[in-house]
Amino acid sequence: MVVRKAVIPAAGLGTRVLPATKAVPKELLPLADTPTIQYIVGEAAASGIEQITFVTSRTKRAIEDHFDEAPELRAALEIKGDPKRLAAIMRPVTLAAYCYVRQQRPLGLGHAVLCARPIIGEETFGVLLGDDLVDNDADPCLKQLIRVHERHGGCVLAVMRVPHAEVSRYGVVSLGERVEPGVHQITDLVEKPKLEEAPSDLIVIGRYVLTPSVFAALERTQAGAGGEIQLTDALCALIQSGERVFACEFKGKRYDTGDPVGLLTTSIAYALKRPDLAPGVIAYLKTLDLG
Ligand code: G1P
Repeated sequence: MVVRKAVIPAAGLGTRVLPATKAVPKELLPLADTPTIQYIVGEAAASGIEQITFVTSRTKRAIEDHFDEAPELRAALEIKGDPKRLAAIMRPVTLAAYCYVRQQRPLGLGHAVLCARPIIGEETFGVLLGDDLVDNDADPCLKQLIRVHERHGGCVLAVMRVPHAEVSRYGVVSLGERVEPGVHQITDLVEKPKLEEAPSDLIVIGRYVLTPSVFAALERTQAGAGGEIQLTDALCALIQSGERVFACEFKGKRYDTGDPVGLLTTSIAYALKRPDLAPGVIAYLKTLDLG
């Protein structure tokens, strides 16, 4: 089945980057001049996604504005004759078609995905979490997962190895049969395990391809780690009911923008990719005495 819809959960409080996120949605915090969520939407669009559903909450109205037309800004830039910035403000508007659904209470990632059910319906869809950026312009991470789904069906999760001491921050997978290089069937999944209970050092990052059967599993899922309805637990239930869920060791460099150091370092890394920004950043970095 062609994957043309995606869900971007964006209802979280962003407490790890307070006070920046007191009044500004964390998804709009910029890497240089571009909000992190625009990179996420760009990855989805480059992966063939045509319709994106944002799951938002009360304090996230500015996300809608970012992906909408801004007639007064447009008029001002037209009068000024600034085609470069005009293109920059129009880019987020044209990347995809957008839908918005509210998560009324912070009941967890699994619950946020379930909120999108009326819009997704019976289609296989992508999920992209806003804190995880994967740098691979030539072959976007979600596109890699979609190809695995096209070959093998089932749900597909992007996984990577991390140092053992870090596994408790993530969903951790146990691998079964290898179906092709870098792709295994998952036999078990556990959300934020204690270090000594983690089944491996392979963690799930925020890119998923999910079949619509996940919705029924989510409806049956009780609160788990952190008292929240976890997507990981619903996927575990799908595996136990015999559905195939795959782990794909994606190609690309993953950045976590969810905390201040991650946000700053990712900002530098992405500025260095930009021909218009890199020279200034490099010139500054060269002045630093890091010894
Ligand atoms: C979520 C998922 C977790 C995954 C992580 C990736 O956790 O629940 O399984 O490993 O994203 O970033 P969160 O970061 O929302 O706590």
